[in-house]
Amino acid sequence: MPGQESFYLSTVGEKLTARSGILELMDDLGRAMTIEPDMLMLGGGNPAAVPAMQQLLRERMQELLNDADSFDRMLGNYDPPQGSPAFRVALAELLQKTYGWSVGPENIAITSGGQTAFFYLFNMLAGAGKDGKQRKILLPLCPEYIGYADQGLEQDLFVACRPDIVWPEGEEQRIFKYRINFDAVRVALAEHDVAAIAVSRPTNPTGNVLTDDEVRELSALARVHEIPLILDNAYGVPFPGVVFVDAVPHWDPHVILTMSLSKLGLPGTRTGIVVAPEPIATAMGAMTAITGLANGNVGQQMVLPWVRSGRILELGPELLLPFYQEKSRQAASWTREFFDAAGVDWALHVSEGAFFHWLWLRNLSISTKEFYQRLKSRKVLVVPGEYFFFGLAEEWEHSAQCLRLNFSQPADRVRSALQIIAEEAARAARK
Ligand SMILES: Cc1ncc(COP(=O)(O)O)c(C=O)c1O
Repeated sequence: MPGQESFYLSTVGEKLTARSGILELMDDLGRAMTIEPDMLMLGGGNPAAVPAMQQLLRERMQELLNDADSFDRMLGNYDPPQGSPAFRVALAELLQKTYGWSVGPENIAITSGGQTAFFYLFNMLAGAGKDGKQRKILLPLCPEYIGYADQGLEQDLFVACRPDIVWPEGEEQRIFKYRINFDAVRVALAEHDVAAIAVSRPTNPTGNVLTDDEVRELSALARVHEIPLILDNAYGVPFPGVVFVDAVPHWDPHVILTMSLSKLGLPGTRTGIVVAPEPIATAMGAMTAITGLANGNVGQQMVLPWVRSGRILELGPELLLPFYQEKSRQAASWTREFFDAAGVDWALHVSEGAFFHWLWLRNLSISTKEFYQRLKSRKVLVVPGEYFFFGLAEEWEHSAQCLRLNFSQPADRVRSALQIIAEEAARAARK
């Protein structure tokens, strides 16, 4: 209301307007990308400017501009709430033909980015039910994507499992990996009313890629419990394909596979894609109608010919993967150089995909939230690890010792940032 300092908020209003981790992250990212260009930006999940991909996108946009009829239809019409019928048919055919999945357009729903898909899915499936049960989303491997943390309209929507930490041989305890502790997952399934299991693959923040066996085991557990398995494929296979290890795309009739055009290079079009059992896909369309009438259709039109031809499956391996893999390798070698030189006790999660390094500072005397502030005052932005450890039943010291670093920015900026982080880590180390 004009002139009023504050106004009454409902419980939902309070929940959604609280100072969430994701808001801080997006605020910092937005400011760094616009009004503070001298910030060294290792926060956020913005994809890199990959020149070959940018060129392709520009050419495709020009093609759309040159075709007056398609262009006018694209901008002048609302799509149906579940997404463009032509796009959904083309994608279903591609998935059937390439992977033998039994999916049709009725299994596909478009949302305004993957983020919106998760808001719909989590709140649709979990929370208080008419049967009096309080259902949860089970995260089998914590840390997990910060963007889920505050999405529940109800409190405490998540229950998360602590993973095992393993040290690949020959890495002198500098490279570690999280492994799902399936015993912990089974206990959580027995102790809670679980609405769905959800996991990102590759995992944001760690760059972990669940093995095909782990995915199959999760899928089997979900099937036995008659609940969906939500696989968040923001970075992975079939596209955008930023995966540095072997990984097979997975779908089963009880799997909800979410994809996005963002990490392909089109975050501005806000295009999320959900491949799901038909009732779930239909429900996603119903929720879109209520919250937003329809989705943006520019992203779908941009990539439609590549979906029809199958080219979309090649863009990752040809253009994106080599780019990000080299960035990861470079950043890891600077980390080793600067952190060893600074005498810091450090370890990195093995980088198997996505755009992030997950740095473990075992000897930090302050929390990473505090460390984040110190780095920000030195014009380096990272994401403190605490935000990714939600849904755990018990405290875990490890949760205050990790940082997520986006390695996709230009090399000189990543290098300078890592040098500053190493200096500050030495200063903040327990003496
Ligand atoms: C794991 C994961 N899931 C989902 C999203 C949502 O992305 P978008 O809404 O741009 O599709 C992101 C974005 O960074 C992500 O990292």
